[in-house]
Amino acid sequence: MGGGHHRPTRAVYVSSLLLCLLLVNLEERFVSANRSHSNPPATAPAVSPVASSPTSSFQPSDSYLINCGSSEVKLDDGRIFKSDTETSSYLSTNEDIQTTADSIPDTAFTNSTPSSLMDVYKAARIFTSDSKYLLYIAEPGKHWIRLYFYPLHHDKYDLKTAVFTVQTDKYVLLHDFSMDDSKVVLKEYLVNATQRLSIVFKPKKGSFAFINALEIEGVPDELLSDSASSVPEGSTVNGLSDFALEVSYRLNMGGPTITPKNDKLARIWVPDVPYNMFPQGTEVATGKNIKYRPENKMTRLVAPEMIYETADRMMSEEQAQTTLPNFNLSWSMSVDPTFSYLIRLHFCDIVSNAIHELVFNVYINGLIGISGLDISDKAGGLATAYYTDFVLDSSAITNDSVMVQVGPITNTNGGTPNAILNGLEVMKMSNIADSLDDLYGVDGLYKGPKSNKLKIVAITGLVLAAVAMLFLVFVCVRWKNRPQDWQKGKSFSRWLLPIPGGKTNYSSRKSSVFGSRKSKSGINVYTNGLGKLFTLNELQKATQNFNEETVIGVGGFGKVFVGTLDDGTKVAIKRGNHGSEQGINEFETEIQMLSKLRHRHLVSLIGFCDEDSEMILVYEYMANGPLRDHLYGPANKPTLTWKQRLEICIGAARGLHYLHTGAAQGIIHRDVKTTNILLDENFVAKVADFGLSKAAAMDQGYVSTAVKGSFGYLDPEYYRRQQLTEKSDVYSFGVVLFEVLCARAVICPGLPRDQVCLADWAMQWYEKGMIEQIVDPKIAGTICEGSLKKFTEAAEKCLAEYGVDRPSMGDVLWNLEYSLQLQEASLQIDQSEDHTNFIGLEKVNETGELANSDPNLAVAVAAESDDSNVTVGSQANAANVQGR
Ligand SMILES: *[C@@H]1O[C@H](CO)[C@@H](O)[C@H](O)[C@H]1NC(C)=O
Ligand SMILES: *[C@@H]1O[C@H](CO)[C@@H](O)[C@H](O)[C@H]1NC(C)=O
Ligand SMILES: *[C@@H]1O[C@H](CO)[C@@H](O)[C@H](O)[C@H]1NC(C)=O
Ligand SMILES: *[C@@H]1O[C@H](CO)[C@@H](O)[C@H](O)[C@H]1NC(C)=O
Repeated sequence: MGGGHHRPTRAVYVSSLLLCLLLVNLEERFVSANRSHSNPPATAPAVSPVASSPTSSFQPSDSYLINCGSSEVKLDDGRIFKSDTETSSYLSTNEDIQTTADSIPDTAFTNSTPSSLMDVYKAARIFTSDSKYLLYIAEPGKHWIRLYFYPLHHDKYDLKTAVFTVQTDKYVLLHDFSMDDSKVVLKEYLVNATQRLSIVFKPKKGSFAFINALEIEGVPDELLSDSASSVPEGSTVNGLSDFALEVSYRLNMGGPTITPKNDKLARIWVPDVPYNMFPQGTEVATGKNIKYRPENKMTRLVAPEMIYETADRMMSEEQAQTTLPNFNLSWSMSVDPTFSYLIRLHFCDIVSNAIHELVFNVYINGLIGISGLDISDKAGGLATAYYTDFVLDSSAITNDSVMVQVGPITNTNGGTPNAILNGLEVMKMSNIADSLDDLYGVDGLYKGPKSNKLKIVAITGLVLAAVAMLFLVFVCVRWKNRPQDWQKGKSFSRWLLPIPGGKTNYSSRKSSVFGSRKSKSGINVYTNGLGKLFTLNELQKATQNFNEETVIGVGGFGKVFVGTLDDGTKVAIKRGNHGSEQGINEFETEIQMLSKLRHRHLVSLIGFCDEDSEMILVYEYMANGPLRDHLYGPANKPTLTWKQRLEICIGAARGLHYLHTGAAQGIIHRDVKTTNILLDENFVAKVADFGLSKAAAMDQGYVSTAVKGSFGYLDPEYYRRQQLTEKSDVYSFGVVLFEVLCARAVICPGLPRDQVCLADWAMQWYEKGMIEQIVDPKIAGTICEGSLKKFTEAAEKCLAEYGVDRPSMGDVLWNLEYSLQLQEASLQIDQSEDHTNFIGLEKVNETGELANSDPNLAVAVAAESDDSNVTVGSQANAANVQGR
């Protein structure tokens, strides 16, 4: 509902912002910078500039690193944050409330927080009234302001409830800010500062403010220019130095996290994996020296070499020999749509053999940014760093997100189409209120437009929101009044993949609220994620009246049929039988949770039918069925190659990674296994069956719940402690990885005790350093050593006893992609040299042993077992969307 009146407000003042862009030159927005040093600061800076690492030639003009409310702390990266208690000449406050902690729980850190920063969060200063840090600026110009927040414990003040504003003399950085979960927060801004800079903390009435650490540092002039290209392409936007900026995203494509230690300006760059939306692209890295051309205003301060040394690209050369790529590499980042953004793309041609080979288009939010960008030409050579800036006006933000795409041009003049991106920065630009957060100025007054038109728009927004609300209530009430007989239908949540709507008789009202559009397949899709409402008749026709011959799977909930709709689309139809538990009270929360799930690597719901107390869900059809059928068992499918297996694991990992991090709230799948990873006609893997899924309660980081899941995949820690975290999915995924590698069932009851359970058995061989002994004999000779090593390392880490020791899905994904790269690289080498790098038969034969010395392996493979489907807990309800 919040969106209800948010959007119209925006629509209006977007235009004001545009106007503001035009007027910047007419208005004196800053006191003119008098660079004369005739007025030295009355007090010398209490915190002396800190030397950066000795190798660095750059020394910021001003450097204040302040550990608030505590003593000096030296970080692992060499920087020293000085205390603001010892000498507080730059802190003006009439109180002295501090808190410290010996340690901070791991759960407070996101994957992207460098551990070297941990120490700055261990103390905080608390303000109950307006207080200010006043810093003297030696060199006017842009300065970083970095604010570090973590709600430490204090007996009197619960920092989690603090609400406050942070502003400089001119700009509002945070308005009525509060921590919405217990993770560390690092906010980063770029503001102009002249002779002095104040950072003011203003508690909201009745509340208080706090800060853990504060960093102010001069920024070299070359970092930001005054102009950028507009989107769509065609003109130039000037006057950018008049805006304050907030860094929203800073990504390193295809590479690791870059920590302050490795960046001369102490920036953090995080891997792009959570934001990219392409399955096929590959990562690439080069060992070549990156060149910076001063004539392009390029220096290592713009971005470190590590940014340009790695990239995401559409295709490797050998892939391009078989298929010509025709897709975009896309990254999507959610943003506040009421602001405009400065977007910087970093490029460096590390893939071509000659200049002018790599030419491609750049799109921002679907609008053309640059057509036919020839990066080696712009950069002045191969392996040469280059960047380009764009201003995306808030009016072009349609989906609460910034989407950056690079893709092939239509006429490549003979060259192979390809596109790459090395790095990406997204920065929010201050608005007409000189704010980076909402529309209140530093005087606390509302600066938004106040026309009648706005009121009308706002009222319309409220009315729309109310109608939407009523509609939801209506649906819920209707659901609560369902006939008793079908409510037996098993775990209710199982039915609630993206929002079921209602009956035909109000579907017209629904489309007037949400609007509808035709999808590619001609199916009516409601744009907000509601599926199509099918009539029973339609589905009977599609499945020849639920003919037994169309059954492709059976589970505790009922049967899964394959059907063909009138327009020829093949679908999987899951029909509940009337006779199981209900979970209707979870309905409203489930709606919120599951309606957010849309991802290339998650099986998507097309629609549903609830006529005649039927409860039927219609999913996209996955032609190649469950992954398990392709590994072992009676199905007798052609063997998947190692590369295919890796790609499938990568796809599934992406799906899970999205569940854990992509939706607004973390979602735990709870039943990760090879029968819940389905393959489409192109062997693209999609995760299915969210029936057991739970939203992670973010405040505690785990969900306390009765143990559910499938034997053989179940996280032992979850079993012991009954506390579910995302790391339970990671454990199950580790089992999946070994299953894919060894192609045997996760539980083989007929085998000797130590071999029954795949996870234990594989770990024994891993610990002996002999994992190659249990590799699926059908592919044993084809896996390169490095690839196997990386893969099994990842699998082994997933199976760590304690959740905290297990990697995140993002890390697993990273390792799998690396493993795939190593395999691909070795294939290239293998074509020219001999195959000494490969494990398996050849290598083992040298030592005179058999490839698979485990006599039970053959038995294990044959003894395909269904026991892994057994569930534990009070409500046994494991089942497959599209069973085998
Ligand atoms: C800057 O300061 C110098 C010396 O104090 C003065 O002569 C000059 O007029 C000042 N310039 C501006 C633009 O204020
Ligand atoms: C901000 O700083 C830049 C760089 O020093 C300068 O060119 C620009 O005029 C400043 N803007 C204002 C409004 O002072
Ligand atoms: C790439 O994205 C742009 C803008 O969203 C779109 O117009 C174009 O058709 C896409 N190209 C491909 C090959 O999908
Ligand atoms: C809008 O955002 C959602 C989620 O980020 C994404 O799935 C969808 O494709 C986006 N739609 C457009 C038109 O960009």
